[in-house]
Amino acid sequence: MQTDLPQGWTILALETSCDETAAAVIRDGRRLISNEVASQMHLHERYGGVVPEVASREHILSMTPVIEAALAPLPGGWSEINAVACTQGPGLAGALLTGVNAAKGLAWAHGLPLVAVNHLEAHIYANWIYPPDVEPAEHPDPLFPLVCLVVSGGHTALVLLRDHGDYRLLGQTRDDAAGEAFDKAARIMGLGYPGGPRVEQIARGVDPKGVRVPRAWLGDSYDFSFSGVKTHVLHAMAEYKAVGAADEQYPARLAAAFQEAVVDVLVSKTVRAAAETGARCVLLAGGVAANTPLRETLIARSPVPVRYPPIRLCTDNAAMVGAAAYFRYRQGLQSDWSLGITPGLKLV
Ligand code: KG4
Ligand code: ZN
Repeated sequence: MQTDLPQGWTILALETSCDETAAAVIRDGRRLISNEVASQMHLHERYGGVVPEVASREHILSMTPVIEAALAPLPGGWSEINAVACTQGPGLAGALLTGVNAAKGLAWAHGLPLVAVNHLEAHIYANWIYPPDVEPAEHPDPLFPLVCLVVSGGHTALVLLRDHGDYRLLGQTRDDAAGEAFDKAARIMGLGYPGGPRVEQIARGVDPKGVRVPRAWLGDSYDFSFSGVKTHVLHAMAEYKAVGAADEQYPARLAAAFQEAVVDVLVSKTVRAAAETGARCVLLAGGVAANTPLRETLIARSPVPVRYPPIRLCTDNAAMVGAAAYFRYRQGLQSDWSLGITPGLKLV
């Protein structure tokens, strides 16, 4: 069932699945009114990854100011909001709980519908969003059927969308997610956290010059495996240190070769999936979609147009939750007051 929602239909969305406390206001499922993100990255950096207990506490502290900031651009405040959305999973249990409970309380108090979405679905829907100064005609919706490569810190999946909410999982990682591989490789190379942007930065413009990182193709499967590239970086760095670490350029060349290997596998499988499924476009989604070599290589090799969100909508945010919730609600899907969290929630 698909109901037409009145024009100007506005949603307040919350996102707390990992280490960003985020709130956003989205109009008509696509127009970005506000997008507030309180990052906790500085708190987790010294541990080299996200500490769940610290994340939950920070979400509670940041939630109210972030929501207030997201509502600030609305002259009518809450009277302009038609629904409240949140992330149900996948993610860290304690972190998800803070967002789901806040959304429930707000929806109940303001007599509004509650719409919970899947975090991966939300990443995909970041591709529907346009900024306030762009006219809808300048940003047409992606065309179905489409193939979306979802690459984040926790997930790597190749998904076929035949329509809104109609997902078919073509392949996924069998071990580490692509973002996780970037984070682990960066940690091994002493580059800090989060690894993706650090690896991209030191590899920028660097020729690997003979440094090669092997790819895991897994035959004809659309599945991925990134634990091997990570182990390769571990051994390569150990060897480099064992011989005195004399060549100062080597870590940058290794980072470039690592990035090239990850991008090559991601792009090759996505391009083949697009051709084999007759997709009309290819979408990138998730934190790793911020990676410039990934974007550029995909554009160069894809048989159909490629789209990806602006960087601030690739990494975790609530605007994407609002966009996904709009299309769910339009299909008649709504959460009830018994809504709980699902840390291991699957897309399909
Ligand atoms: O989607 P996201 O913000 O959080 C999850 O849902 O996991 O993704 C975070 C991941 C991290 O692993 C981070 O290292 C990676 O996205 N990332 C990047 C880049 N920016 C963020 N990976 C490669 N290149 C980047 N520029
Ligand atoms: Zn995410």
